[in-house]
Amino acid sequence: MANNRLDIVIFGATGFTGKFTVKNASRICKEQKIKFGIAGRRKEALDAVVKEFASDIENVPIILADVNDEESLKKMTEQTKVLVNICGPYRSFGEPVIKACISTRTHYVDVTGEEQFMEEMQLRYNEAAKTAGTYIVSACGFDCIPSDLGIIFTQENFGGEVNSVEIYLRLWTTDHNNKKSFLNFATWESAIYSLAHANELRRLRDQLYPNKLPTFTPKLKSKNLVHRSDVSAGWSVLFRSADRALTYRTQRFLYDKYDQRPAQVQVYHTLLSFTGLLLMSIVGMILLTFSRISCGRNLLLKYPSLFTNGVITHENPDPEILKSTHFSMTFKATGWTEKLAKPTDKHINPPNKEVITEITGVSPAYEMTSILVILSAITILKEANKMPDNGGVLTPGAAFGKTSLIEQMNKHDYKYKVMSSIEK
Ligand SMILES: NC(=O)c1ccc[n+]([C@@H]2O[C@H](COP(=O)([O-])OP(=O)(O)OC[C@H]3O[C@@H](n4cnc5c(N)ncnc54)[C@H](OP(=O)(O)O)[C@@H]3O)[C@@H](O)[C@H]2O)c1
Repeated sequence: MANNRLDIVIFGATGFTGKFTVKNASRICKEQKIKFGIAGRRKEALDAVVKEFASDIENVPIILADVNDEESLKKMTEQTKVLVNICGPYRSFGEPVIKACISTRTHYVDVTGEEQFMEEMQLRYNEAAKTAGTYIVSACGFDCIPSDLGIIFTQENFGGEVNSVEIYLRLWTTDHNNKKSFLNFATWESAIYSLAHANELRRLRDQLYPNKLPTFTPKLKSKNLVHRSDVSAGWSVLFRSADRALTYRTQRFLYDKYDQRPAQVQVYHTLLSFTGLLLMSIVGMILLTFSRISCGRNLLLKYPSLFTNGVITHENPDPEILKSTHFSMTFKATGWTEKLAKPTDKHINPPNKEVITEITGVSPAYEMTSILVILSAITILKEANKMPDNGGVLTPGAAFGKTSLIEQMNKHDYKYKVMSSIEK
């Protein structure tokens, strides 16, 4: 890789999440003496972003590139060591950027939560990325670093062998008078297209993993109905997010590469009020049903506020209001005090240990996402020697599991903690 490259270029810097990323990159890169530039398709808008979010940095190079112009993408990616791609929906915009990164031997991180996109990219480009010595790591935002690295943190702190992890996510606001939106339209759009193409996942998974994992017992049973959990106060229900599928890919990678017993994972969403849970379930069902048919998708895209009770509109959320949003993710891990020699060895006794871990934080959707993606890019720059192989299309857990990313997150107030550890 040529030495005159910038360390990081943020592509999609003019978007809602892109601006958060530039703001946080300015602070973090200044502290760590890392040189970054920004990229997008509109010069004036990029100038304005530098003026608003990076005016105290001496020189922030601006690169013009358009997803629809292959040459411009290559010219952009060959000017940096790591490309931070914030242009979504990724199903529409992601693939040409990954292709350009591989052809110019540029590492890549993004903040997608779109399962099909990620699995398709792994299927198509894993070998090419390895050959090029390039790391392509998607889902480096709130989707799915907290859950993926959270499981790894829990496994490392378990003291024995983990059989299963149940994750409970809670999201809440402390601004109860606010009636404005909390999520950007692009996030809604990405979720709709992801659900619309969910039927592609079976084919993709059969191709990605022709050899099935052995059966690990006892099998983790999903709690299909609304339930009250002893680790997450309120009402909990199965949560259809990208986390479970992504953590499967990480655990599978760790099993294939390091002979490590994979944790079985299930993800739930908890709400304090039963009415809130009911409303969320109704929105979820409408989203699932409508996103499958073209006219339904059009309605969801045209009238987001109607379908989400004002949580999503065509206007960007107010960054100040986002500061009142919080999350907690609790991990309930069950397993044994004893670790057996091989991952496929069978324990004679039922699980005899339970460890609860947790991560909490403020403003998860955009502030945290933008910090995590910059920390991920810096981790590739500084700790590639602790990353597996010489490249590849990897999940965050597979890529960063042996690096200091969890410590770096701690420094930015996103801290994993062991809450309790009980031997039965
Ligand atoms: N995983 C997570 O936790 C998480 C959190 C936040 C966001 N996200 C994802 O991040 C993505 C971006 O979200 P957002 O809210 O920032 O969206 P946004 O505000 O719509 O921004 C989209 C960006 O893409 C750029 N773009 C669009 N078409 C382009 C093209 N042909 N060539 C070059 N640039 C192009 C836009 O540039 P212009 O300004 O020129 O239009 C803009 O900079 C979405 O997929 C969202 O789901 C994920």
